[in-house]
Amino acid sequence: MNDQRIGVALLGLGNVGGGVIKLLDDNAAQIEARLGARLDVRAVVVRDPDKANRVVEVDRALLSTDALASVRRADVDIVCELIGGTTDARELVLAAIAAGKSVVTANKALLAEHWTEVFTAAERAGVDVYYEAAVCGGVPIIRVLREGLASDRVEALHGIVNGTSNYILSTMTESRRPFADILREAQDLGYAEADPTLDVGGGDAAHKLAILVNLCFGTAVDVAAIPVDGIDVVEPIDLSYADKFGYVVKPLVIARDHGDADAIEARVHPALIPASWLLADVSGAKNAIYVHSYALGPSMYYGAGAGMLPTAMSVVSDMIEISRNLAARSSGLAPPAGPSGPTPPGSSYGGRRFAPQARPRPTTPKKLVPLADVRTRYYLRFGVHDQPGVLGQLMTVLGKHHVSIAQVVQDGAPGRRDDDGPVWVVALTHEAREGDVRAALAEIAALSVVRERVRVIRIAG
Ligand code: HSE
Repeated sequence: MNDQRIGVALLGLGNVGGGVIKLLDDNAAQIEARLGARLDVRAVVVRDPDKANRVVEVDRALLSTDALASVRRADVDIVCELIGGTTDARELVLAAIAAGKSVVTANKALLAEHWTEVFTAAERAGVDVYYEAAVCGGVPIIRVLREGLASDRVEALHGIVNGTSNYILSTMTESRRPFADILREAQDLGYAEADPTLDVGGGDAAHKLAILVNLCFGTAVDVAAIPVDGIDVVEPIDLSYADKFGYVVKPLVIARDHGDADAIEARVHPALIPASWLLADVSGAKNAIYVHSYALGPSMYYGAGAGMLPTAMSVVSDMIEISRNLAARSSGLAPPAGPSGPTPPGSSYGGRRFAPQARPRPTTPKKLVPLADVRTRYYLRFGVHDQPGVLGQLMTVLGKHHVSIAQVVQDGAPGRRDDDGPVWVVALTHEAREGDVRAALAEIAALSVVRERVRVIRIAG
């Protein structure tokens, strides 16, 4: 820190980078008053300095194409990584840490895939890595979990962490139009990416869930091992049946600590949730996380999960927090990651003031509960021939595999002919083991009375 100024290098000047410049400018007086220092952008790394029509105007003298030189500048204290991806971003974040700079990143994929590497490096170097914008954009869920609930123990969380998926399912619920139409409309409106795979396929949510699990449960999960289903399995008719049963369908992430078993449950999929739940009212592109913790009980955090200024707000707030640590000479003393594994030999761990016994102790790695062993309730929609005994056959197979039915409806109207198409039998199960449900469904799929692939949506709550 020089003369009450903190030097910042900004890597990337897209939507969020532009938002950071705008927010630093719009709220300059307020930030300076709160921090007692100024955040001074000293370099902005871009691919093409001549690019026209940027989100914001930036002094051309600040623009650079040399990312490595920019992160190593002596007058830079904080490197802000907003380029995305996991190749260049990883190298630059590690280079910044090695150069003794603290880092702010909005890069969920980088943290989900390289969590231990990044935080071990930061711990060794005694610098901070903050990442509020990586999960739910402007919703300060990381700060809540790290600080607000620091004395509590999270038992479970349910979240809507992908705005695009929430927008599509919310619009489907209102209009009962098909998934593909609404996706196209969301792309035209600029809500959904040209390649929406990560959003609607659940990959973006899995990255965010991995970070939340690491933070809540002090263990680094392998993001590739998290079971993920996209929202494209949901059809308008499922939303109508869900409604009849008193549920809505939401794109959920779910995590639960299995306590004694030293295991974590983590999964990403659309789910039926009771219409009375607070999360059922989280519509459009909004995000929300519903946390259940030992002491506080339930609490919910809601807001914009994406967008230029909401995301930039999280990034700049992280810069302010890091600047306060720089001023207090406490960078890296309380790793924002939570325990990230064994303290590496020779770690400074910020190492200037804490006796070794005062450091957070590494936690035992916890394993993910295999999906086959997860126990939950299920919505099952069978498309069958309308014949005597069909319902009995379905229920017999489910019962044989220990899957008990709680509610069932069949919508075959009187006078309906078999060539009108399949008749739908919709069943809600009691809690069952996923492996048993899958075994029953494989057996049912082979029955001659079955006309359509069974649709399965898990029920939460
Ligand atoms: N594409 C994400 C969403 C925002 O739709 O919520 C960035 O993670």
